[in-house]
Amino acid sequence: MTFGTTERLASIARRTEDEALQQRQRRQDLEAQNPLVCEICEAPLPDDWSLRQRAYDWLERHGRPMQGILCDTCLATKQRESAIAECQARAEELERTLPERLAASGVPAILREARLDTCPDLPAELVQTARAWAESPRGFLLLLGPPGAGKSHLAAATMAEVILKGKCPNPGAWFTTEAAWLAAVRLDFGQVVADERPHTTGLLVLDDIGSSYMNDIRRGELERLIRDRHAEKKPTILTTNLDLAGIDRVLGGRVLSALRQWEQINKFPRRDLRQDGSVRPM
Ligand SMILES: Nc1ncnc2c1ncn2[C@@H]1O[C@H](COP(=O)(O)OP(=O)(O)OP(=O)(O)O)[C@@H](O)[C@H]1O
Ligand SMILES: [Mg+2]
Ligand SMILES: [Zn+2]
Repeated sequence: MTFGTTERLASIARRTEDEALQQRQRRQDLEAQNPLVCEICEAPLPDDWSLRQRAYDWLERHGRPMQGILCDTCLATKQRESAIAECQARAEELERTLPERLAASGVPAILREARLDTCPDLPAELVQTARAWAESPRGFLLLLGPPGAGKSHLAAATMAEVILKGKCPNPGAWFTTEAAWLAAVRLDFGQVVADERPHTTGLLVLDDIGSSYMNDIRRGELERLIRDRHAEKKPTILTTNLDLAGIDRVLGGRVLSALRQWEQINKFPRRDLRQDGSVRPM
């Protein structure tokens, strides 16, 4: 290497150092002239703010401030607001699609309009119990009462409420009557075959238990269903015209002992809504 080359290299190094110094100076001036403030509340941002380097790089490169610079407080507020908006959109979507969902879940047309908000002719305390259960549906909600008292209506309304609250576990809800379900139970080469949907569904309404023809196979299937859902605390709404002694007699002590551990609604007014003219024929 010649003497001239070394000189030249040293002068390049000096120039590079000078440039770096100037660049640092420019950056300091830029920072001094452009204090970072929150876009919403215009509060100065703290020195140790994590996006600081990126914000000044942006300003230097583009000649205008980076957008969306928010202080921690405004950022948290904005995140909360967008979370609320997301929640509202989800609730509106659930409300809009509820009729389809109820139809797809096997709710008969006559009960599809049932909602907890429109059960004013039931005692408030009774609707409140159903509403509280729908808030965090776990295990059983047993509706006991005489014919025409509004049990199936309340069961459907509670199902709708669970769906509206977004509390229905996967894979969704299923409404059926004990009679319809048990009618499909059959023997196939000595094996009991039943529709397993009441076992697997997220939320089950089993309407009118203890009302259909029983034999050992059917009673066994019903007992298996109740015990499975009880053991897994799967949300299940049951209605019946029987009282507890009747459940014991017709469905057996094992079913009764599982059901007794959960919520019950048994104070339906003694009246038949189908007879007293309060229900218009459809
Ligand atoms: N809160 C209510 N508001 C308006 N209509 C209602 C209400 N509750 C029940 N009904 C109507 O009254 C009739 C009887 O109610 P529902 O079928 O729920 O009675 P139930 O107790 O299930 O009777 P059953 O034991 O015979 O099955 C139905 O037509 C139902 O739509
Ligand atoms: Mg009914
Ligand atoms: Zn702010």
